[in-house]
Amino acid sequence: MDLANPDLYTTEDRFAMWRGYTETDAKVWSEPGLSPGGFWSVFSHKDVGTVLSPKAPFTSEYGMMIGFDKEHPDSSGGRMLVVSDGEWHTALKRLVGPFLSRLRAPELQSVLEREVKEIAERMRSARVTDVAREVGPRLPAAIVCEVIGVPIGDRENLIELTNHAFGGEESSFDKMTPAEAHSEILFYFHELVAERQEKPGDDLVSALLADGRLSVDDVVINCDNVLIGGNETTRHSITGVFHIMARFPELLDELRDDPDRLDAAVEEAVRWTSPAMHVLRVAQEDVLLGEQLVRAGEPVVAWLSAANRDERVFADPGHFRTDRRPNRHLGFGTGPHHCLGAALARIELRSLLSRLASDVRSVSLEGDPAWMRSNLIQGYSSLAVSMDWR
Ligand code: HEM
Repeated sequence: MDLANPDLYTTEDRFAMWRGYTETDAKVWSEPGLSPGGFWSVFSHKDVGTVLSPKAPFTSEYGMMIGFDKEHPDSSGGRMLVVSDGEWHTALKRLVGPFLSRLRAPELQSVLEREVKEIAERMRSARVTDVAREVGPRLPAAIVCEVIGVPIGDRENLIELTNHAFGGEESSFDKMTPAEAHSEILFYFHELVAERQEKPGDDLVSALLADGRLSVDDVVINCDNVLIGGNETTRHSITGVFHIMARFPELLDELRDDPDRLDAAVEEAVRWTSPAMHVLRVAQEDVLLGEQLVRAGEPVVAWLSAANRDERVFADPGHFRTDRRPNRHLGFGTGPHHCLGAALARIELRSLLSRLASDVRSVSLEGDPAWMRSNLIQGYSSLAVSMDWR
């Protein structure tokens, strides 16, 4: 079976496939196919934790997703945060981390409240909303603009470009493909870097430039890392919140009656939606995973979404429960590359959950969810819902 085949992930049959693999701690080899060279896969919570642990002899520098090609490694390897290791990775984390930390939450709260309010107003005036297109991408794009330091005047355009590049397909950009929209964003980052070279501010771009060790291209690719990391994943957890509310209708009352459950609901939303489906590492030496020998240079794919439904760690994993304590989900990964934007993702989800709990009586699905055809992102291409407002 070629586990790179994106068609495997367009239906909920994937959960049964993963269950079969997690139950037996399976190590599966996918022959060269859609991914040149083939790759190992691990699925269980234990195996994923082993591969990603700080001491494991694996590297991210060749790339961290399926498609890895030994002959053509990721050109950002060793320069972009998520595909760097060692001292450079630590240096980048120290530079970028403070801009994504919990300390920024109070500053970002007002941006979030404004966005969540606007979303609620727009949804109130429409009978049916495709939240995958019209809501999911909006909050993360606004937050990322704030973090990177996009000037207010450019923000609306960049939010819409980001929305178009990562799934929203804005009608105002109907002559542009999503890939072209992404190139447009990179072009914009180059301009922003030139502006900040002239006139530094207290934003991420200025901090990366001030450090002195990053070239202009390095600054741009690391802004792109934050942009992609912040948008591609979070938008599906946000969309998934509406799916969860429709599937588990008691949750709205539960959160309204007991707001102390909000933090647990946020963690469970990340586990249940698990938008980062896999991460990839390459073995730096021969290594035994259980009884399976993985040779130096071979890639191993850790299926985070499968591990997050491992029945040995999460009882009744398909169920959304706010009483999982502890909730040791791997939605944000683990080890040295643990998501740097986790705090931001959490405050985005918390704002939305809190608003829905106070304003909404029920959420109904208007048709089945359409899942993305992707082996990387577990996400929605469309999720139409209607709401009963209080
Ligand atoms: C890394 C998931 C939100 C920025 C990661 C990784 C995962 C992940 C699994 C680890 C990658 C690896 O091990 O190779 C998620 C999920 C999110 C989310 C599920 C939302 C629900 C965000 C946000 C931002 C962000 C909001 C920034 C605004 C990053 C960055 C890294 C990262 C910069 C690289 C960290 C490193 O390599 O040290 N994320 N992420 N993420 N994420 Fe997130």
